Amino acid sequence: MVKLSYSSALVKSSIYDVIKDLPKAELHLHIEGTLEPELLFQIARRNQVSIPYQTVQELRLAYKFNNLQDFLDIYYAGASVLIHEQDFYDLTWAYLERAYQQNICHVEIFFDPQTHTDRGISFDVVINGITKALENAQKRWGITFHVFMCFLRHLDEISAIKTLETALPYRSKIIGVGLDSSENGHPPSKFERVFAKARQEGFLTVAHAGEEGPPNYIWQALDLLKVMRIDHGNRAMEDEVLLSTLAKRQVPLTMCPLSNMKLNVIRQLTDHPLKKMLDKGILVTVNSDDPAYFGGYLNENYQVIAKALNLSVAQIGILAKNSFQASVMGADQKEQYFKQVDRIISQYP
Ligand code: HPA
Ligand code: ZN
Repeated sequence: MVKLSYSSALVKSSIYDVIKDLPKAELHLHIEGTLEPELLFQIARRNQVSIPYQTVQELRLAYKFNNLQDFLDIYYAGASVLIHEQDFYDLTWAYLERAYQQNICHVEIFFDPQTHTDRGISFDVVINGITKALENAQKRWGITFHVFMCFLRHLDEISAIKTLETALPYRSKIIGVGLDSSENGHPPSKFERVFAKARQEGFLTVAHAGEEGPPNYIWQALDLLKVMRIDHGNRAMEDEVLLSTLAKRQVPLTMCPLSNMKLNVIRQLTDHPLKKMLDKGILVTVNSDDPAYFGGYLNENYQVIAKALNLSVAQIGILAKNSFQASVMGADQKEQYFKQVDRIISQYP
């Protein structure tokens, strides 16, 4: 009996160690969602923006959400302190420091241009601050990166088209477009034309779908927006044909366990569909979404889902490999990471 609990403690620590040790890519990360309350207060003070909370603790206490919309209301309010290029630089740098500590070697991050341009902040202030931090992290730590800009789906098509046009001079800094914000009532079909134009201009496409919205929104993202990845995709579980299509076409799902918990997409982590999807051969990945708001960065997401679903070391290895496979990086770079993952996994029981 004693021996059994001793060995299970060993196995548990192995899983946590392997998560730390493995190189990983993060593919579903809203940079505005990495704004920790401490930095939020610091930037608000220097920009003389008033916020309706007195202390970091008080603000953290407000991070209780019943659903996606509850979160978005606070997330957009938080982003309103960001005004200058330095603010976007500091925000991005703070995330990259964490990424480096967590052995994240490659990031594909989202930003929401309309959240800023609608407040009168110019597009170049946002993209330059973000990009400079990413370039410095690449120089310093070798973290490679790509940037996707998301259209806010609660806004209209015209606003998305204007945003795409504004982004064209910065094409070399933005690899693709995505779709985020309030999902229900804002189907991918609303953005079919702007995504077609984005593809014509050479952008890759991804979209949030099936977080709160129905499986049909995932079909629309695939068929109408021609996305290369689905962000979240939880509700694919309700449609067997969709599940087998995702598996057959190897369309990646960028899943976010802590986000799903905090926004009541799932009732408890043990209900999370990640393992069932892995078992069906779907290319699922683990990501942190908006870590400052959801209580954990990438490694914490791996840890909680590994524990809740009793994932094996081999399954953690598959998730790390999937993160590279689902990324935009070249085949040679992917191969290098697959080998690194295999070497690390082989050191664990
Ligand atoms: N879903 C939709 N929009 C978002 C999210 C999310 O999880 N995070 C930031 N914008
Ligand atoms: Zn997201």
